[in-house]
Amino acid sequence: MTEPPTLLVTRRLPPAVEARARRDYAVRQREEDEPLSADALVALAEGAAGILCAPGDPLGAETIARLPASVRVLATFSVGTDHIAVAAARARGILVANTPEVLSVATAEIAMLLILMAARRASEGERLLREGRWTGWAPTQLMGVTLAGKRLGILGMGRIGRELARMARGFGMDIHYHNRTRLPPDQEAGAAYYPTPEAFLRATEVLSMHIPGGEATRKWLNAERIALLPRGAIVVNTGRGGTVDDAALVAALHSGHIRAAGLDVYDGEPHLFPGYLSAPNVTLLPHLGSATVETRDAMGFRALDNLDAVLKRGAPPPFEVR
Ligand code: DGY
Repeated sequence: MTEPPTLLVTRRLPPAVEARARRDYAVRQREEDEPLSADALVALAEGAAGILCAPGDPLGAETIARLPASVRVLATFSVGTDHIAVAAARARGILVANTPEVLSVATAEIAMLLILMAARRASEGERLLREGRWTGWAPTQLMGVTLAGKRLGILGMGRIGRELARMARGFGMDIHYHNRTRLPPDQEAGAAYYPTPEAFLRATEVLSMHIPGGEATRKWLNAERIALLPRGAIVVNTGRGGTVDDAALVAALHSGHIRAAGLDVYDGEPHLFPGYLSAPNVTLLPHLGSATVETRDAMGFRALDNLDAVLKRGAPPPFEVR
């Protein structure tokens, strides 16, 4: 019987995923559950045929250049690949694969949750209670805004954006979107398409951001674009933190141009732009988008499907990133 390939697993994974990995591979895994350093990653990868990695792992061009020649595939436990220098991996003949589709509903749920929390000032209300400051019901207390009839602007109408549109229709919201390309009518489902960011932002009362990270989208939402949103707009980001200019958003939260924001992702996370911590009208979640038992199992199994294709069958991974 041939020895199973060695697989470096950089993080702790759901039990069912770890069990399947251990059944099929010689797994090398750390006990610690936080991102490892580039040096540790390179050392642990010695002799590994595959790496099951995750957001936060340092897989930039410099690390990839130092990976041992044994590594044939990087399977990330995520749909986002901004932590991996994909071109550098390809140049070394290392395949890269991700886990799209299975996290769309869970991530759209968190976007919807943040939209509701921002519109209805849920974090402020909870803090009032926890800090013992609530003096009872009052006619003008913590008035938010109703979502029904509001224009939801979805930036990036991929699978997650379309799931969010489906949910938001249930709240009576009017769906608008900006994308590189217009969707076919069955996927658009009546949503209004804007080919330019300017027209899109002017029409948007609640902005939900679903664009990938990386240099091309860095600080996409800057001061000029924020100024195009109508006064009192809401901003929610469940995509990647680097797509927002934090200083500009905090300034707009303080001036009231932006009524409220809801964030699940941060530039340079786990560190937060300090201005968010003192802004009462921002709801902050710790990157929970895909954090359901069902979704995290499905992501792990998809990552293993990618590894199996390459390492067991010599085939391309079903969800290859190019
Ligand atoms: C992803 O998959 O890229 C998410 O951000 C992790 O939930």
